[in-house]
Amino acid sequence: MAEITLDLRDVDRAQAYDELSRHVDAVLQGVDDDIAAMATISALVHHAFGHLWTGFYRVVAPGLLRVGPYQGTLGCLEITIGRGVCGTAAAERRTVVVDDVHAFPGHITCDARSASEIVVPVFDRDGALLAVLDVDSEHLAAFDERDREGLERIVGWFARRGTHTAQ
Ligand code: SME
Repeated sequence: MAEITLDLRDVDRAQAYDELSRHVDAVLQGVDDDIAAMATISALVHHAFGHLWTGFYRVVAPGLLRVGPYQGTLGCLEITIGRGVCGTAAAERRTVVVDDVHAFPGHITCDARSASEIVVPVFDRDGALLAVLDVDSEHLAAFDERDREGLERIVGWFARRGTHTAQ
């Protein structure tokens, strides 16, 4: 297929995620490589919405996240599970939406422009935590339920892979 980077900034958010998740599945069809998938998803999500930072922190040891593929300025290298927004999402195995990062106790600042963020856990097909997807915005309260649903659907690729077909 022709692989293109979508710009969905002017599209209704729910519709944008429908289009983006179909696109991710199509681009990743036949791929069975976590790093390639994380790099591809980071690029597509980041540029679709013009975010500040979009990327993955991978579980590399018990209790430890290490930065994986991302788009944006330099990210912190390692985060202890349980610390910051990423570490909280990993520890609690749930999506965390933060409207104002300055009001989140223990938030880890990698880029001072970051104002709000969403962190989504990434599971494999056995339900094991592989990583988290962290998306940061320079705008307050940039993320809501549509982003949670849309991003959870996109990272669902890691549980579906090898079994899915592009629609
Ligand atoms: N804000 C994150 C740290 C990672 S960076 O923003 C890229 C956190 O508190 O988990």
